[in-house]
Amino acid sequence: MTEFIPHVINGEETESAGGARFATVDPWLRQPWAEAALGEAADAGRAAAAARLAFDEGPWPRMGHAERGALLQALADLIVANAGELAMADTTDMGKPITDALENDVPRAALNFRFFADHARLATADALPMDSGHHAYTRFEPAGVVAAIAPWNFPLMLETWKVAPALAWGNTVVLKPAEQSPASATMLARLALRAGIPPGVLNVVQGYGPTAGAALTSDPRVDRITFTGESATGRAIAASAAANLTPVSLELGGKGASLVFADADLRTAVDWSIRAIFSNAGQVCLAGSRLYVQRPVYNEFLERFRAAAEDLRIGDPKVPDTQVGPLASEEHYRKVRAHVESVEAQGGKIITGGLGDRGWVVRPTVVTDAPPDAPVSTEEIFGPVVVVHPFDTEEQAVTAANSTRYGLNAMVFTENLSRAHRVSAALRAGTVWVNCFFIRDLRAPFGGVGDSGIGREGGNFSREFFTEPKAVVMAIRNREGRG
Ligand code: NAI
Ligand code: MG
Repeated sequence: MTEFIPHVINGEETESAGGARFATVDPWLRQPWAEAALGEAADAGRAAAAARLAFDEGPWPRMGHAERGALLQALADLIVANAGELAMADTTDMGKPITDALENDVPRAALNFRFFADHARLATADALPMDSGHHAYTRFEPAGVVAAIAPWNFPLMLETWKVAPALAWGNTVVLKPAEQSPASATMLARLALRAGIPPGVLNVVQGYGPTAGAALTSDPRVDRITFTGESATGRAIAASAAANLTPVSLELGGKGASLVFADADLRTAVDWSIRAIFSNAGQVCLAGSRLYVQRPVYNEFLERFRAAAEDLRIGDPKVPDTQVGPLASEEHYRKVRAHVESVEAQGGKIITGGLGDRGWVVRPTVVTDAPPDAPVSTEEIFGPVVVVHPFDTEEQAVTAANSTRYGLNAMVFTENLSRAHRVSAALRAGTVWVNCFFIRDLRAPFGGVGDSGIGREGGNFSREFFTEPKAVVMAIRNREGRG
């Protein structure tokens, strides 16, 4: 018995026009567990047409924020009510430990809808009194049809991070989940219909990037493209969007640096640095995959970090106490394995970790002595592999952290307040965490510098991307009726 994961287009669950399907694989069992509709350009086109119609003629963009917000809150309630099933869908599709899915991904998915519903309802706009006797104000009109292209590392959480602000600001959406993790997106679309969100407002098209995905990003009916994934894919999407001048928001790769100063609280630094690279088996754009440790505490930090890495429980992601599961797919495992196997040839040493003894598992891996320009030190591995380098001065640490084409995030561990501010200002990154990691306020900008992306989302940044900001300028006539 194989479960079927359909497209959801205009409120209906459908097969692909050609009837083709693809298997989605459980990476722990290394077996297909379900089949999804294999979307082609024709299916992406049907979804874009449905979203277009729901935008141009449907009630959604014309509703008040309170009414739309209530429907988004109802969807959040349904996400909470179906948390177990949603979490298990992501865990089965891509091997995320079930406890992470239940404690982080699903609550955050619900919060994404609650936050953006409130944010849109409570938003204010500018009123601009002018010396000339005019009065200007801003409005934020819905942008239209949003194509949301999502990755497989946080399927539901990142899909809702895109869908929620898009819907809250009155847009309609075509969501294309990653081919490695199709299940939770279709479940989300079903829940949206149950919540009372009209058909055509949230469409899901399943399938691969170069076919279904590329058809969407080049579709002239699409008004916004929001994408999270690999930098090379971001470039391809920006190029296809250029033909229609479609605005893009791209959250791409990273090679996050953690700077551990000698004055840091080492327990804090170890705990967060472990989470930063080994949670979700390192398949995190924000991963702290480069660790820079000041020389006086280098040996002590490394010993404690290694011990903590070895304490992590590796295993079946469906078991609640598992902390590190398999990598998400065979293709991805091969990529990470190639990095691990080449560490020594690059001049690095693996002091703990390496390939697992089962399936697509890579153990929490700590690399030292790698040259700063070796691929393991510079490339996004997207696995549980961290490269540790010593440093002497604050200036050296900042220069090393910034010597990357990426710039998504960085972490600073220090108890010195001035240093914390100074270094945070000097780091070239979209987010800097001081003595913590992964904590988010959804009002704050989120995105990256350089190869880590274009644009920011979060709070008002999401509003600016998912709307057409408009200036209205009114003449105020004088008592004689002129001006
Ligand atoms: P990818 O960037 O190719 O895939 C992400 C999404 O984009 C998927 O939904 C995919 O179907 C879609 N896509 C791919 N090509 C497309 C195209 N031409 N037009 C429209 N959509 C397209 O990432 P992939 O291949 O799954 O992973 C490769 C590497 O990318 C990983 O090893 C990792 O290094 C990085 N990555 C980074 C992520 C992040 O959060 N920054 C997330 C996923 C992957
Ligand atoms: Mg790809």
